Amino acid sequence: MIVLAIESSCDESCAAVLDTETWTLLSDVVHSHIPAMKQYGGIVPEIASRAHLTALPQVVGHALEAAGKNLRQIDHIAVSNRPGLIGALLVGLNYAKGLAWSLGVPFSVHDHIEAHLYSPFLAEVTGNSGPPPFPWVAAVVSGGHTELFYVPSFGAHRWLGGTLDDAAGEAFDKIGKILGLGYPAGPVIDRLVREHREALRGQPSVVFPVARVADYHFSFSGLKSAVALAVESHRRDTADNESPPVSLLAAAQEAILTPIVQQIRKGLTAFPGANPVLTGGVACNSRLRELLPEAHFPIPRHCSDNAAMVAVLAGLKNREHALVASPWSEGASPRSEWLGLGASS
Ligand code: KG4
Ligand code: ZN
Repeated sequence: MIVLAIESSCDESCAAVLDTETWTLLSDVVHSHIPAMKQYGGIVPEIASRAHLTALPQVVGHALEAAGKNLRQIDHIAVSNRPGLIGALLVGLNYAKGLAWSLGVPFSVHDHIEAHLYSPFLAEVTGNSGPPPFPWVAAVVSGGHTELFYVPSFGAHRWLGGTLDDAAGEAFDKIGKILGLGYPAGPVIDRLVREHREALRGQPSVVFPVARVADYHFSFSGLKSAVALAVESHRRDTADNESPPVSLLAAAQEAILTPIVQQIRKGLTAFPGANPVLTGGVACNSRLRELLPEAHFPIPRHCSDNAAMVAVLAGLKNREHALVASPWSEGASPRSEWLGLGASS
């Protein structure tokens, strides 16, 4: 089966083609709208929806061309329909439906978080050694979500906990906004701290408190206020608008990553023998990779939003005889209904 996948839940228009028989990813196109968002310091949902509208036909065209396929060779269309920006999701969903209708092929909708969760299987379809065997203690850490799962086997996840307020990536981005680092700030903070690593050694370091949260939950909104106060007092003390020291960024990054590492480790103790897995945009972070050397991280390109993970999710469901064609009446939703639906929860 040749699957064409479409992803448009946030600010990237993506398309990918997967051959489920040879288990090969034939193409993987990501068109980012971040440049259009930079001037606003974040995502403007209406602009993202309009950008998907114009970009998707070209992105799908490029994905087909790179895969060496034409539309008539597509057997199935997979699309993410939740969670995300509702306007952006609706553009992708309706584009997928229209294409499926005109080609006379089935389409299926998929949860974006579920696609991130199983994205480690992208290693298999790109000719690399696959993910560690189940069970996993897995975290999806992105701009919109920070979710922790116990995954005994494919499709049988148990949601352990998630953020009570901001997501980890959102914390990076909001702190970056306070500091004028542009959007998205996660990669910038990661790079600045890495580049100044030697200079930071031995410097008196700021330490931001990590919120104590019950069970496997997270909380990052207090950190944002703590950083804002620290920046304000730094500016007052230095009497000019000198940019805050990188040590402050390093401390903020550490305060975001520490609870993620702690909760993963707690999960590994509670589920002996499980393998740690991290995905989602924040899993690109080099310091996080350093703090959890035993964990499996997909390559950075596959941690951030992409359609290949949607194609692989459809392919895995097909392999497990669990790929169900969606009805034409299928809608989109800003929320994930899948999170609490694990087989064992
Ligand atoms: O998974 P993703 O591409 O989109 C969502 O589904 O949200 O994640 C985007 C998020 C942004 O908040 C971005 O700042 C963060 O991932 N991010 C990073 C890094 N690269 C991307 N955060 C920390 N360090 C990075 N290197
Ligand atoms: Zn995502």
